Amino acid sequence: MGNSLQGQEILLGVTGGIAAYKAADLCSRLVQLGARVSVIMTESAHHFIGPTTFEALTGRPVCTDPFVVQEHYRGEHIGLAQRARIVVIAPATAQTLARLAGGFADDLLSTAVLVTTAPVLLAPAMNCDMWAKPAVQRNVARLLADGFQMIDPENGWLSCGQIGAGRMASPESIVVRIVRQLQTAELPDATQQTDPAQQKETP
Ligand SMILES: Cc1cc2nc3c(=O)[nH]c(=O)nc-3n(C[C@H](O)[C@H](O)[C@H](O)COP(=O)(O)O)c2cc1C
Repeated sequence: MGNSLQGQEILLGVTGGIAAYKAADLCSRLVQLGARVSVIMTESAHHFIGPTTFEALTGRPVCTDPFVVQEHYRGEHIGLAQRARIVVIAPATAQTLARLAGGFADDLLSTAVLVTTAPVLLAPAMNCDMWAKPAVQRNVARLLADGFQMIDPENGWLSCGQIGAGRMASPESIVVRIVRQLQTAELPDATQQTDPAQQKETP
């Protein structure tokens, strides 16, 4: 894929699940493809991985507290959201899915998601019984109806020792989705194209 993400601004949200360690791999792959990556970690994510890892990988500060300015004095939720060409939340916990489905703005990540006009790609990861719960599936359906993109979790070994659907999609497949999404966004908008045969002469 070479430098297929050269210069693209990506906002990576990392939430509090075991798969947070895989977000470091994802982040590194994005940087290697030329992307400029900013990371928001939720409070819970700090229990699973340290901000130092993402700061070293991206060369940028990691943001968590909406009231701590790192780069944007108008608020990180504004600056980070407006800078992003795409927002990717990987892993996305059940809690964060619920927050986004409810339209809450009670942490930096959910507030930034409300601000952004960029596409938002969610990569859920959780225990298989959590993923199967009607409440979680209701939130997933709500998010899809609201225009969020979703990369479904895979079947396999889960850190809790169970086997089932809930493993975060692989960093490789998330990268492929991001590249595809950004390439699609760059195609000229079909609705803006004029068919010469349909053009009427102006008087
Ligand atoms: C050891 C451990 C592992 C967890 N793994 C997950 C997980 O994979 N997915 C998930 O949705 N929640 C998981 N949780 C629960 C979340 O950390 C919890 O719901 C938290 O409030 C999520 O907050 P956040 O979405 O703001 O990061 C885990 C909790 C613990 C203690």
